[in-house]
Amino acid sequence: MARVLISGGELLSASGAQMVDVLIDGEQIAALGAPGYFDDVAPTCDRVIDAKGRYVLPGGIDVHTHMELPFGGTAASDTFETGTIAAAFGGTTSIIDFAVQRTGEDVHDGLAAWHTKADGNCAIDYGFHQIIGGVDDAALKAMADLTANEGVTSFKLFMAYPGVFYSDDGQILRAMQTAAGIGATIMMHAENGPAIDVLVAQALARGETSPRYHSLTRPVEMEQEATHRAIMLAKVAKAPLYIVHMSAREAVEAVARARDMGANVFGETCPQYLYLSLEEHLSKAGFEGAAYVCSTPLRSRKEGHQDALWRALRTNDLSIVSTDHCPFCMKDQKELGLGDFSKIPNGIGSVEHRMDLLYQGVVTGELSLARWVELASTTPARMFGLYPRKGVVAPGSDADVVIYDPKGTTDISAKTHHMNMDHSAYEGIHVDGRVETVLSRGRVVIENNTFTGAVGHGVFLRRGLSQYLL
Ligand code: URP
Ligand code: ZN
Ligand code: ZN
Repeated sequence: MARVLISGGELLSASGAQMVDVLIDGEQIAALGAPGYFDDVAPTCDRVIDAKGRYVLPGGIDVHTHMELPFGGTAASDTFETGTIAAAFGGTTSIIDFAVQRTGEDVHDGLAAWHTKADGNCAIDYGFHQIIGGVDDAALKAMADLTANEGVTSFKLFMAYPGVFYSDDGQILRAMQTAAGIGATIMMHAENGPAIDVLVAQALARGETSPRYHSLTRPVEMEQEATHRAIMLAKVAKAPLYIVHMSAREAVEAVARARDMGANVFGETCPQYLYLSLEEHLSKAGFEGAAYVCSTPLRSRKEGHQDALWRALRTNDLSIVSTDHCPFCMKDQKELGLGDFSKIPNGIGSVEHRMDLLYQGVVTGELSLARWVELASTTPARMFGLYPRKGVVAPGSDADVVIYDPKGTTDISAKTHHMNMDHSAYEGIHVDGRVETVLSRGRVVIENNTFTGAVGHGVFLRRGLSQYLL
């Protein structure tokens, strides 16, 4: 078992920063000590990493990815192998992906299929949420079994995508009641799908076919209304609720109000909603805007949604930043929607850039260092039952560690990224900060901009219940 000493760095946690040396023994953190405390031990270590002038932080946890998801007439272009290697490059050491069950399918079969896709193919650790796309008696029973026995304790439902994953309000209420009874968390895609489908058909009939109509047919009110409805249903069911990929200020205000009333309601946003917009990205000339088609959609910058999301991250009205990594290439995939925006596969890939993009909030003064770590690692671990194994650098925790150079810089481009995508939503962007070295369970997996880990190193994470629930 290798012993690694990380010395001279500034250790970051959700509660602040401290000059601390970190001793790793095998897969776990063995001890923390004041600078120089381990000088006597250093000669016995297999490796001493000099972290002077660097931040040392817990590995990022991206709780919303879709590797290999069959969706929109094609499948997300990252496999578990390519996607987890890309994640590691970006300082993410755990992902939680979504296993899928559709109407008429067996939930256990869906979960087994995702185990087959991921097992032996991941470079970093991974867990699963379960999508319940067909709520019926068998699916509700399976939710209890997955929670009790399979380490899958969160279930995503969809108020959007009729005919694909959509659940009606009665189905949602039943799933929420089940979740309340077993302590599981309901994750909600909150958009009014049936109403959106009407708006989409009307837009297409008017000849409005370009990518920007994806956002214009999914107006803020559709997210706001569904978010409010989900919160009300969760209140009736007494179930914890986590709203995924939030983009509209008014929807976040609904979450904030529920939280102020003491409800177990949580919100997540993603880098695309913080940085990209309807005007600058989705409305690009020709078909270029297709790269930015995702749901919920990118919102108008003029209306102030991006600013409101940053504010909500500061105030804890939003709890987590994930990526909703769902990559599709332009060629042959996004192109399915040439001449009809509704056929563009929904999704943006950014699993490699989440830590860097969120760090820009520290650079611009939107977030403290502690809040950066909290949003990207510690809260994800607590929210989805992985803490303190993950989400903190502390004795006994897995040695998932990022050594981050705040003076470094990162250029984002499809030419250099490791995701299996022929474009980047952040092409040409130059950001401050650089992921320098990444350890996954004590093993150095990234250094000198090279992957030094192994496919198959990543293990399945059996998760407990959310640690935010009373
Ligand atoms: O556009 C998105 N979000 N694609 C992935 C599927 C989902 O709804 O999360
Ligand atoms: Zn969704
Ligand atoms: Zn998603």
